[in-house]
Parts: sequence; C-alpha cells; structure tokens
Amino acid sequence: RKSEPGSFRLMVNSSEKHFSFDLRDLSDMGVGWKSNATLVTIIRKDVLRFLDAERDVSVLKSSFKPGDKVRYVLDRRRTFDISQTLHSLLPEVSPLKNKSFKTCAVVGNSGVLLKSRCGKEIDSHGFVIRCNLAPLEEFADDVGLRSDFTTMNPSVIPRVYGGLQDERQRDSFIRRLQQLNNSVLWIPAFMVKGGERHVEIVNELILKHKLKVRTAYPSLRLIHAVRGFWLTNKINIKRPSTGLLMYTMATRFCDEIHLYGFWPFPKDGKGNPVKYHYYDGLKYRYFSSAGPHRMPLEFKTLKTLHSKGALKLTTSECT
Ligand code: CTP
Repeated sequence: RKSEPGSFRLMVNSSEKHFSFDLRDLSDMGVGWKSNATLVTIIRKDVLRFLDAERDVSVLKSSFKPGDKVRYVLDRRRTFDISQTLHSLLPEVSPLKNKSFKTCAVVGNSGVLLKSRCGKEIDSHGFVIRCNLAPLEEFADDVGLRSDFTTMNPSVIPRVYGGLQDERQRDSFIRRLQQLNNSVLWIPAFMVKGGERHVEIVNELILKHKLKVRTAYPSLRLIHAVRGFWLTNKINIKRPSTGLLMYTMATRFCDEIHLYGFWPFPKDGKGNPVKYHYYDGLKYRYFSSAGPHRMPLEFKTLKTLHSKGALKLTTSECT
C-alpha cells in the first residue's frame, strides 16, 4: 500500500547493515523533548490503515470452537490446535476495547534500565506495557511495579521456568502471574511451531489455580500488519520485536508513548557495558545471523520518531 498525501513519511536508511550514529549523541535525548500532537494523530491514522490494536490485540472466543486448527503465522504448513483449555481462556471482547490514555509506558528489557531510577516515572503513566514477564520486585527502583499489559513469548517457559516441569518452577511462575493482578497477559501462541505445549501448560495452570489474569492471544494478522506499516515507511523489518509491536499497537490508544529499556547495544554512550537484559545473563544474540530481529534498525527508527516528538525514548537516568 502507498502512503496517501499528508500521511507520515519516516526517513531512515534501512539498507545500512550496521548501526551508524554515535551513541554518545544520545546521552541528553530527554532535554527539550516535546510531544508533537499533530504527528501523533497522523501516525495513529497511518497505523490504523494496517491494524487496529483494539481488534488485532487478540482473537476472540467467538472466532473459534474447540478442535479448530489454525495455521502458524510464520510457518503456514503447520497448524495449532485450539484446545478446550485455550478456548475457555479466549477473551469475549477485546481487552483494549474503548481504551484511551494520555500517557503510556512501553518497557523493554535492556540493561540500560539498571541504575536508571525510572521506576517511579514508569509507574506514573496511565497504562504500562511490559515484555516477557521480566521480573520487577528486585528492580522496582529502576523499572517500577505497575503492569497493565504484559507479553509472554512461549519461549520464556523453557528458558526461564525450566518448562514448568517441577513444583518449584510452577510455584515461581504462579507467583509471577499473581503479580499481574488481573491485568492482561498477552501470549503470541500462533507465531511459530514449538510453543504449543508450553502455552497449554500455562493455560492449564491459570485455570487450575484460578489466577487473576486477563489472557489475550494476538490475531493471526497482527505481525504482517505491523510489518506492512513499517514497510510503507521504507523500514523493512521481517520479525518486529515485541517492543516494536507494542509501540505500534500503543499508537492506537495512547497519546504520549514513553519508551524505557530500549537499548540493543552492549555499551552505553559513555562506553560502559550494558547488559542485554536487566535481569539475566542473556547475550546479544541478534548481532549474530541467528537472531530473528533487527533491533538496532528498530532503535534507529524509534530515535528518529523521538526527535520528531512522536514518542519519547528514555535511555539514561530519570530525574
Ligand atoms: N529491547 C531492547 N534492547 C535490549 C533488549 C530488549 O531494545 N537490549 C527491547 C526490544 O524491543 C524487545 C523488548 O525490549 O522486543 C523486550 O525484550 P526481550 O524480552 O529481550 O525481547 P526478546 O526476547 O529479545 O525478543 P522478542 O520478545 O521481541 O522476540
């Protein structure tokens, strides 16, 4: 689809293989930042031509019956079975229905958050989105505690919770879900083959322990729609990261979007090391060809949007 006259054109050279601006330039990004309400409205309209977060945030109960098969979004040859358990957890209405907020936080998981003291500021936003069930309590000063919407890639289950094989792992997972406190748990269940049994175990635990979470499972078209939106701005991102998906969806219902914990680089602007995640020892795998994402390009894009006032990217301490 072509951009219509008056729609937003973002100029970022996405053909560059390597990230090419000077990280030192980013240290005072917050100074003098101002929201550009006109641009925010234009971007919202542009995104809406591809996706509507209210609809695409989740498939609904009425769309399926138990026993249905859906094709995986990124592997069309294989199918996912809609089990009775999953069906019973599908929402009846969109968890984002009629939502609208003045300010929202989208919190990525970069180690740049450590020692940032951004917790209070993050928690002060009207709606807080977090990724992949990242731990909060031990890091509350830097990342805050509030969560209105939390994503969980199925791969978190084997990687962080040992596949929920034993009692101890299940207990720690259940405790983490209890912290969600009736907010949304967003599980991209239909992306790629491999996570089906993890999704099923999670769903069974939620039902068995009557956990207070509002489950949501993104629509089959979401990722293609997000990719399409960025492609019309000449940003070619095959597998948008969770963080970019969340920003793109948030344009629908948030006027001011503040991003924290987005920093896909092993060093900060002063040359100090930055952990990939603020909470574990995971490595910068996307620098190898094995990684599915293009986070440095995404970051560059977000940085451009920051300088135009479409969003606010915080990459240093909060004051
Ligand atoms: N992120 C970032 N810089 C990092 C780590 C994460 O900008 N050093 C952002 C990315 O947008 C990422 C989001 O924070 O999608 C959540 O981080 P994480 O849980 O690590 O996501 P991944 O598992 O790496 O990737 P995804 O869930 O997107 O597949």
